[in-house]
Amino acid sequence: NAKFDNVLVERRERVGIVTFNRPKALNALNSGLIQDICSAAEAFEGDPEVGAIVLTGSDRAFAAGADIKEMASLTFSEAYGENRFKEFARLTSIRKPIIAAVNGYALGGGCELAMMCDIILAGEKAMFGQPEITLGVIPGWGGTQRLIRAVGKSKAMEMVLTGNQIDAHQAEREGLVARVYPAEELVDQAVAIAAKIGSMSLPVALMAKEATNAAYEGTLAEGCRLERRMFHSCFALDDQKEGMAAFAEKRAPKWTHK
Ligand code: CAA
Repeated sequence: NAKFDNVLVERRERVGIVTFNRPKALNALNSGLIQDICSAAEAFEGDPEVGAIVLTGSDRAFAAGADIKEMASLTFSEAYGENRFKEFARLTSIRKPIIAAVNGYALGGGCELAMMCDIILAGEKAMFGQPEITLGVIPGWGGTQRLIRAVGKSKAMEMVLTGNQIDAHQAEREGLVARVYPAEELVDQAVAIAAKIGSMSLPVALMAKEATNAAYEGTLAEGCRLERRMFHSCFALDDQKEGMAAFAEKRAPKWTHK
């Protein structure tokens, strides 16, 4: 198992768990933490025994944003020239399903990181917000793009323009969060959902994620075409034959992930 300075990694059955571990800075995302999150997720992506990934933080903070102290003195040419905010492209190219289990603060880059995941689950005390405007900047890791797709224009604008935070229940009502749990149950519940996803045929889960994400990025016509082609290609899998045979024989399927 690879060792990381800023995250803890653990595997439970077919679930890979990445726990952010910069408690003193409320998991503020400095370059070390970002690198470790991406590398740990990539390690689980490459592990055939893992079917889904959970990202989580601490009770107080999923992540309180990009590291303000690391950014404060950047010049434009450093920010733009080094393209230092591109690292998360590694995370968004992970093909296995990723669940964000959010307790405490998910602010700025922390909220954006949660939105890069496929499902957001929240503990009752979670808080979401894009406070960048209060620091004299705008969101830089997709906040203005992904929030609007999750909650619609008016609510996204309100958060981005005021910096106001919303709590877990409001986030669930608005569609940003899939489900809210008591804080102490959150990680186990997230692992249970990830385990259910991980118990499916892996190539089929990858296709389901890819096709669903197409709705995010392209037109309805393109998305439906991609979905149909992927649906057709499911019939090339042993797991499709097994899944449908198991249904007919009234038994549980035994996936070979092929
Ligand atoms: N960057 C660096 N350090 C941070 C941090 C951040 N984003 N958030 C918290 N910390 C540090 C604090 O500086 C403090 O460190 P010290 O003990 O050394 O002073 C420690 O974490 C604990 O924080 P607080 O004492 O502030 O804890 P609190 O409970 O009083 O407040 C909080 C919690 C409301 C989350 C507050 O810490 C806060 O407002 N944090 C900043 C949130 C923010 O603005 N995030 C957006 C960052 S910009 C961004 O993310 C850009 C982008 O889109 C890419």
